[in-house]
Amino acid sequence: MSTVSRRRFLQGLAATPIVLGAVRPAWAASFVRYDIDTPQGQDMLAVYANAIRTMQGLPDTDPRSWRWQWYTHFIGGAKKPDEIARIFGDAVTPERQLAEEMWNTCQSHAGQDPNNFLPWHRLFVYYHEQIVRQLSGRADFALPYWNYTSPDPTKRGVVPLAFRLPDDPVFSTLYRPNRTTLANSGEPIHKDQPGDAMDISVPMAKANYSTIGSEQGFCRAIDSGIHGRIHVLTGTSTNMGSVPWAGRDPLFWVHHANIDRLWTSWNRNGGKNPYYEEWTYASFVFADGNGQRVSRRLYGAFSTTNMGYTYDAFEPKPASTLSASSVTAQGKDMADELVARARAAAQLGRTATQVALLPVTDRATPVLGLDPAQPGKRTYLVLKGLHTWKQPDVLYHVYLLPHAGARPEAGSYVGNINFFDAEFHDHGNGALDTALGENFYSFDVTAVLQGLARKGLTPQSLLVSFVPGGRPSAGAEPLVGSIELRRQ
Ligand code: C2O
Repeated sequence: MSTVSRRRFLQGLAATPIVLGAVRPAWAASFVRYDIDTPQGQDMLAVYANAIRTMQGLPDTDPRSWRWQWYTHFIGGAKKPDEIARIFGDAVTPERQLAEEMWNTCQSHAGQDPNNFLPWHRLFVYYHEQIVRQLSGRADFALPYWNYTSPDPTKRGVVPLAFRLPDDPVFSTLYRPNRTTLANSGEPIHKDQPGDAMDISVPMAKANYSTIGSEQGFCRAIDSGIHGRIHVLTGTSTNMGSVPWAGRDPLFWVHHANIDRLWTSWNRNGGKNPYYEEWTYASFVFADGNGQRVSRRLYGAFSTTNMGYTYDAFEPKPASTLSASSVTAQGKDMADELVARARAAAQLGRTATQVALLPVTDRATPVLGLDPAQPGKRTYLVLKGLHTWKQPDVLYHVYLLPHAGARPEAGSYVGNINFFDAEFHDHGNGALDTALGENFYSFDVTAVLQGLARKGLTPQSLLVSFVPGGRPSAGAEPLVGSIELRRQ
């Protein structure tokens, strides 16, 4: 690092205030993030591709370098102390100190509060964007987003062309060879999956930001749902499909710009962020456009308008009404009752795995999980404690079946799970087994159970079937630790 930049860096460290909350008035929203598939989006993408070339040319000790940005999310292929020693040697510099603070801080793929996911990634993308703005000299730069949920079939789930051009003089920096075949071929990445893996109607209809009882809130529903699916389906375990490698692919950033846009859309449609809760006060360290240290509290990332940017388009309000939690949120009945559970964890394999759900109470109902005496309640299939030794590189599709031999079909389809954040990765404290979160999934299966009742079936036990959406990689041995049917 040159003396000039070192001086600037030191000044930055000494004088960095903790920035609280809103940084600019509401009317100042001046940057617009465009869909990549618009003329403005293409223009911005070219600026981005060139800036990546610059960032890749900066030394690893520079917070604006591509490796630093990737490592802030998570370090792939090495342990943090080893990488710090390799890059900084013995020198105790401010940059080294900043690397200690910033690297491996992604939230919340390793057991931290699941609510941190959206605001942490918003701040991460926001400062990345500032760095590009500085390095490119384009004062109007705003990161474009990949609109994979577009209803247009030529765009839905299709990796934008500019990310698939290894020989292009400008866009080649956006290319990575180690994505899935579908991602780099330009076919919809979800083409071989049952259901519609680009669907976001369930999270967009959530009434709450945070999980309540058995019902996922918007944040966890987005995180475990479309967010994880995009990682796995563009994937591979040395790229987007694995937390420690994901930040290396430029696709990561345009993916997260879209996740951020979905959050903004949910807010515009009436979803409220939970100010004043303790987790919102947590602060995290980033590097701004000049590579200087900034510390931000999560609640300071709750409004894009206050942060000075917006999007060219938003997701419409979902046609379906807000889900059951709109009732629970009003405090009517938050108790969630355990109805049935699997006796053991499910070890998922290369073909379908079936696990029995057995009742835990004596009070039998015509269909296990449905209670005619409590018609207002919903029934949830709750999956927790996901773990994998390495990425299986596929989604697993979940079906709820009335008996052995019943065929998985649309009427019994519950949803899908992925293991993106279910792989042990060392957060620097060496304690691998504590570095995994609860990995909470829940699916509203009321309609599936009502379908069984309509067919005149009266199952007193159910089978959960996990079907891999492709051929899982060997040696991953993904596991679902706990499987329950709960009513709320
Ligand atoms: Cu921190 Cu898309 O991941």
